[in-house]
Amino acid sequence: MSKKLLSVLLSTAMVAALLVGCGNSAAEEPAAATEEAAPAEEAAEEPAAEEEEAAPAAESNGTKVGVSMPTKDLQRWNQDGANMEAELKAAGYEVDLQYANNEPQTQVSQIENMISNGANVLVIAAIEASSLGEALDMAKAANIPVVAYDRLLMNSDAVSYYATFDNYKVGQVQGQYIIDTLDLDNADGPFNLEITAGDPGDNNAPFFYSGAMDLLQPYIDEGKLVVKSGQTAFEEVGTPQWKTETAQSRADNIISSFYADGTNIDVWLCSNDSTALGVETALANSYNGEYPIVTGQDCDIENTKNMIAGKQSMSVFKDTRTLATQVVKMVGQILNGEEVDVNDTETYDNGTGVIPSFLCDPVFADANNYKELLIDSGYYTEDQLQ
Ligand code: BGC
Repeated sequence: MSKKLLSVLLSTAMVAALLVGCGNSAAEEPAAATEEAAPAEEAAEEPAAEEEEAAPAAESNGTKVGVSMPTKDLQRWNQDGANMEAELKAAGYEVDLQYANNEPQTQVSQIENMISNGANVLVIAAIEASSLGEALDMAKAANIPVVAYDRLLMNSDAVSYYATFDNYKVGQVQGQYIIDTLDLDNADGPFNLEITAGDPGDNNAPFFYSGAMDLLQPYIDEGKLVVKSGQTAFEEVGTPQWKTETAQSRADNIISSFYADGTNIDVWLCSNDSTALGVETALANSYNGEYPIVTGQDCDIENTKNMIAGKQSMSVFKDTRTLATQVVKMVGQILNGEEVDVNDTETYDNGTGVIPSFLCDPVFADANNYKELLIDSGYYTEDQLQ
């Protein structure tokens, strides 16, 4: 896909995000919304990083960092939040960590509270890329630097820096895996492909999608990859809020409409693990053909178990410890007035200009290397993957 198409997609995503954001104007009690409880099944699967709490808190230097995370529903954000809290405390900062239950207005209220409580820096992983306008305006008026965490905050000039994984590369890793595994350059095919992408309100989602589709589109064009559902455009394959159930019901529909006669699906490109889980459940429920290649991202516990069991082919490991460490470093540099460590000053324009970014490297993961990547590195314990 061309850069032009990517930018069209990005604007579409931005408009969609704006619409959702504007419609969501009911004021909420911030206090009631803070620290929502994790669902019971999540609680049983707390990531290793959260249990360790390795580094002891250094004596507070009186500087406050507000950390706003989207939700506790997805495992990765629990890890991101816990890692950052531990590292920031170890560096001597006070930390105000809040999860916003995937409700944009709750996130606005929580950030406004952080500002009223004297936050010196804000680190924000947005639910909706463009829905935090009021809170970001307030941060700007109070001269509080804002670091966008993992997801870019769109259409606000209050954003100082962005730290993430290389989102386009995540998609490329998935697309290249499909090309290599099906041996698309040599095999005759045709192979049947279906596609499930991410949340149109998340600026990362079109990057994942186009990273993979830029590699796969030529094979679709030559007829070696066939999408029987006909659904290939980002707008058709997106999954609002990355919800597993939404991905599952769309997959259920595709299977019953196009593959009920036992026709094989050879590959299902899924942008991340929460959507892959939905597709895997749909495949288990209603699909009778040979099990397809299924891609993912994040190495969530359920998906890693599925990789070990042969129900998911690969994932992309984004070590949340690396990102947390990088952000803590950037926060320190900002607070000390030092030059801030960035490695990309071209890719991420949030509508007000390019935001200086640090892109961490995503890593290919599958059943062959998960032990080294996830267990030997202490990311998970072996028990968590039983
Ligand atoms: C993150 C992914 C995650 C997805 C759903 C994206 O913004 O980059 O790692 O799978 O959100 O939470």
